[in-house]
Amino acid sequence: MVSHSGLLTVMERAARKAAPRLRRDFGEVEHLQVSRKGPADFVSLADKRCEDALVAELKNARPDWGFLLEEGGEIKGDPTKPRWIIDPLDGTTNFLHGIPHFAISIAVEEPMPNGKREITTGLIYQPITDESYWAERSRGAWLHDRRLRVSARRDLADCLIATGIPFLGHGDMAEWSRIFGAVAPSVAGIRRFGSAALDLAHVASGRYDGFWESGLQPWDVAAGLLLVREAGGFATDFRGGDQPIERRQVIAGNDAVHSKLHKIVAGALR
Ligand code: IPD
Ligand code: CA
Ligand code: CA
Ligand code: CA
Repeated sequence: MVSHSGLLTVMERAARKAAPRLRRDFGEVEHLQVSRKGPADFVSLADKRCEDALVAELKNARPDWGFLLEEGGEIKGDPTKPRWIIDPLDGTTNFLHGIPHFAISIAVEEPMPNGKREITTGLIYQPITDESYWAERSRGAWLHDRRLRVSARRDLADCLIATGIPFLGHGDMAEWSRIFGAVAPSVAGIRRFGSAALDLAHVASGRYDGFWESGLQPWDVAAGLLLVREAGGFATDFRGGDQPIERRQVIAGNDAVHSKLHKIVAGALR
């Protein structure tokens, strides 16, 4: 059994403190104020309350760290220190429709000696199932105290693949359709469950064999990408490069599934 670092204890405490309010809001979803950030891009009072609760708790624990927040944008901190990348509620559409599939995602991005910034710690907490997925660089990916491994399936015909479909006004639907048309006939099944953070956590845990999506934001994937890699998987952009966050494109899976999906995606983009 492994216990996680003090930093993860801080992150998990923040998520667990914010979660009861989120669960309460989920139970009274019809009374929540909902607004639109764009066409079909909803945000509710629950997203904002949860984000505020996380920021308050994490600021208290690490006063000089900055934030990149889905709802609140950037809060600058000491540039020599790490910053938090947070999606307070990944799966808002599910939440607002009463579907219990959503999560809090918190990642730590650290400045490296080479001047780059890298994700070194991630937590994805699912308030309804009380599941806590976490990863630390070089220390593996875990669900509570159970070590996670990506799936061992290598033949796409046996594989269950997750994806996200661009919604009204977001992403490239024509591109998604071309990729879907190429992937669907080769795999056992495709799922669109509506939380990119949980999609990646479930690739890390081997429930899904692979995942692809584009148009994702750093807070959707920062923690999940670390989970997949620490679970022995590969996660790249559509070109197979190591910039899924910068290019807003993710292909993830074990080495075989990743490379087969990459080939299909590259063919569909040509
Ligand atoms: C969304 C979810 C969804 C993905 C969208 C994201 P939100 O995040 O992760 O699965 O397909 O691209 O925007 O808005 O529910 O936090
Ligand atoms: Ca959103
Ligand atoms: Ca999100
Ligand atoms: Ca969100």
